Amino acid sequence: MISRQKMVFGNWKMNLNKNEAEILSKEINEGINASDVKVVVFPSFPYYDHVATIAQRFSVGVQNFYPTENGAFTGEVSVNQVKNLGAEFALVGHSERRSIFNETHSFLKKKVDAAINFGITPVFCCGEPFDIRNASEEYTYVLKQLEESLFHLDNKTIQQCIIAYEPVWAIGTGLTATIDQAEEMHSTIRKWIAEHYNQECADTISILYGGSCNAANAKELFSCPNVDGGLIGGASLKSDSFLSIIHSF
Ligand code: PGA
Repeated sequence: MISRQKMVFGNWKMNLNKNEAEILSKEINEGINASDVKVVVFPSFPYYDHVATIAQRFSVGVQNFYPTENGAFTGEVSVNQVKNLGAEFALVGHSERRSIFNETHSFLKKKVDAAINFGITPVFCCGEPFDIRNASEEYTYVLKQLEESLFHLDNKTIQQCIIAYEPVWAIGTGLTATIDQAEEMHSTIRKWIAEHYNQECADTISILYGGSCNAANAKELFSCPNVDGGLIGGASLKSDSFLSIIHSF
């Protein structure tokens, strides 16, 4: 069980070559000055091991995996291979996987279950596109994503998960949710968990914000009572901005 804690996660997506990943990892190692913040980076698969051997003051997770142990799935990396690499964290449900790679609610549910079965913490991403927010349907939309793929877990298992709220309209766009928008969504999710699971679960699960979170807005976002940290894309690719976000609490 991972208690609710301050977290800053860096999703490097399909960026950086081996040398760049090495330099960035070393700079993060040297620059972290906050023992109470859990830092995890998610590099591309080919550099996972290399980054993991450098990582001393942060952990390394995977951006993706296939929810079957082995078999004829050309090009995929299985959940047990990921476990074998030593990954403790895996992104599940990122909007790019949903929209570009057509990952459905039911497939994401399989990924959540596979991660849990292998002792990997799913970092479950959810978030509404712009037209849904425009139609004021964001709470229904996000809760449905969670209900379809994550909230089937029992009281004990749900506490092993991390949730990342990432409004799709804010990812990579430079638009950020206001602190009111972020706090309202995070508190709605936490309230749902308290009502449908129990207060202990609601108090245990960390909920991160993602979507153009950067060195300039992290402090404000992290000051929201229900925002436990951030899942950072673009601003995690440079050590100065990523470290500044880590030190924003
Ligand atoms: P961004 O990406 O910080 O570049 O908006 C966040 C994410 O996709 O996790």
